[in-house]
Amino acid sequence: MANKVLVTAALTYANGPAHLGHVLEAIQTDVYVRARRMMGDEVIFMWADDTHGTPIQIRALREGIDPEQLIARVYDEHVKAYNGFQIGYDIFYTTHSEENRKHAAAIFEALRERGDIEVRDVEQLYSEVDQMFLPDRMVQGTCPVCKTPDQDGDSCERCGSTYRPTELIEPRSVISGDTPVLRTSEHLFVPLARHEAFLREWLTPASEGGATILQDSVRNFVLSWVDGGLRDWDISREAPYFGIEIPGFPGKYFYVWFDAPIGYIAATEKWCELNGKNLDDWWKAPPGREDGQTEIVHVIGKDIVYFHCLFWPAMLNAAGYTVPSRVQVHGWLKVNGEKMSKRRGTFILANTYLEHVDPAYLRYYLAARLSSNQDDFDLAMDDFVLRVNADLVGKAANLASRSIKFLNNKLGGTLGPIPEDGAAVLEGARQKLLEVPDLYRNFDSAKALRLAMEMAEACDGYINEHAPWKVIKTDPERARAILTVGVQVSKLVGAVLKPVLPEWGEKIERMLKLDQPLSFANAAEPLPAGLELGAYETLAERLQSATLDALIEASKQDVAADQAVGATQSEDAGPSFDYEVAPLAEEVGIDALEQIDLRVGKIVECEQVPKAKKLLRLTVDLGPLGQRNVFSGISQSYAPDQLLGKHVVMFANLKPRTMRFGVSEGMIMAAGQSDDKVTVIELDPRSLPGDKIS
Ligand code: MSP
Ligand code: ZN
Repeated sequence: MANKVLVTAALTYANGPAHLGHVLEAIQTDVYVRARRMMGDEVIFMWADDTHGTPIQIRALREGIDPEQLIARVYDEHVKAYNGFQIGYDIFYTTHSEENRKHAAAIFEALRERGDIEVRDVEQLYSEVDQMFLPDRMVQGTCPVCKTPDQDGDSCERCGSTYRPTELIEPRSVISGDTPVLRTSEHLFVPLARHEAFLREWLTPASEGGATILQDSVRNFVLSWVDGGLRDWDISREAPYFGIEIPGFPGKYFYVWFDAPIGYIAATEKWCELNGKNLDDWWKAPPGREDGQTEIVHVIGKDIVYFHCLFWPAMLNAAGYTVPSRVQVHGWLKVNGEKMSKRRGTFILANTYLEHVDPAYLRYYLAARLSSNQDDFDLAMDDFVLRVNADLVGKAANLASRSIKFLNNKLGGTLGPIPEDGAAVLEGARQKLLEVPDLYRNFDSAKALRLAMEMAEACDGYINEHAPWKVIKTDPERARAILTVGVQVSKLVGAVLKPVLPEWGEKIERMLKLDQPLSFANAAEPLPAGLELGAYETLAERLQSATLDALIEASKQDVAADQAVGATQSEDAGPSFDYEVAPLAEEVGIDALEQIDLRVGKIVECEQVPKAKKLLRLTVDLGPLGQRNVFSGISQSYAPDQLLGKHVVMFANLKPRTMRFGVSEGMIMAAGQSDDKVTVIELDPRSLPGDKIS
């Protein structure tokens, strides 16, 4: 019996267009789905837009439109983008739907019946200026856990913690900048600690009898949250809120993260309705059923693990739904080694990419480098061009093209038998194919594609060695046999590539006149001698780096257009820096350094200057150059004895300056954004006082 597999990608947030970070996740998910279908599993890919919550309200407000209008427009953009990248979802639905309302209510009621909903008065931030309670995304401030500034009111982008807006340090309203005050209102909570036993079971690794598949690092991360104590989860928000009103609590709405994952179920329900299927086969399917297991597989980015690995399984379990069998977490997409940047033109929108570059290239490149880990993914444009041209074009396409074209042009397009000396090449490729399904099942597309390239390379070597273009002059049937190996191996390579490049697979099916779509099971079946090949169809052409240059240019234009409509999405995608630095100064030649004499200094005396809050007085030893008296404004970052004995960088030819407390004869080099965050530049203690630094 085929396994039932329900796969999801995270529901794209509907406050703006999809970018290549979203596309990475979509492609990873799509490749998995297609591969599992080729294994014979019954797979559905359920997807939707995530449409509720404050950021959407804010954006609509800024654009002067209704949230409904915004999400309708964004929906069309998302669908266009994902279709363009050939993402084979079965449905792309929306959380702003009747089905979602129904299941959110059902799960809420189930929690309530179990006594899992607590109503409590909470003090909430209220802005007198804005005249409203501020939902979490309308407040920003410093993370109470890691102290990173400018974090949203619900969770920290830096450390992943979630918290209440009132816990923020120095909160302020996003709308007005006003400092909000505390006011009381009723909120609904799910005491997550009541689900601890279930969560621990759900988090148990297979080695200890558990059933959920998680990457070790993810599992440990989540377990550390459980060990640290599960906190009550606030699932309600006050009107005005764009979302689903909570049944029985007029004026209160589900927090967007309550109804967002329920969108997976809502999408399934809609798909079932359209396709005459039964929702319960997917979402009410306890393990151990006779007609096959149901797997629920979520693919997500590393920023939303908390929601998918704590709240979500607990909610599902409490309400009697099928719990996820696997959560697959990927890292962040970077471009040219850095987070995507609008200024550099590396904040690339999905639809802009599609206007300039063939999606097949990105599908191939991402899949060729994505494996099951959570490392960030660097889309380095140079490497992108290189890998596509060297491997996809130079190896896989080349093998099929030289074999099929030669046969078609010179030998009537008919296959021969496999020659004895080619059998080993073919067998080697078959052996590699056996590894492929498990690799894809484990999201290791990189390894699967590497095997495909090895198959092509080995076969290419075989053809070169036997030089059919020479042999044909004396023994055409021998030449036919040699190239037949190339065609057979191209079939195997085509099967490995098909989840990544569906059109490639289809072209192989047409050229080789296959009567069944390629699958991992039928790919190794030999093609019969005498088979007449179809016309050659180009599989891949070289990627030009000029094409990518044009894409970067166009992406810079997008930013200009975006700014013209006053969009305020965060400047860059990816984990943003939580601090700013001064812009780089104008470029100079090396000679600019000559004027400044930096020396190794050893701090031999250090004391607080009385009556000067910030100042330390230091005696700095410059070895053969003697000792210097230096006043340094770093006493909020260092106690005097912390500095004693340190070897530091001294700006030694700085003109002496007379201060109220004495003369300062130089300057200690240090970094730091504010007086209490200064760090002096420390040198290796082996450095020699007085030695020149250059
Ligand atoms: N709406 C939520 C998900 C709700 S799921 C019930 C959300 N949306 S999102 O649009 O912000 O992100 C969607 C997915 O894209 C997330 O898995 C997120 O991690 C991923 N990515 C967003 N930017 C990304 C990169 N720059 N790189 C890789 N993945 C990124 O979160
Ligand atoms: Zn934090």
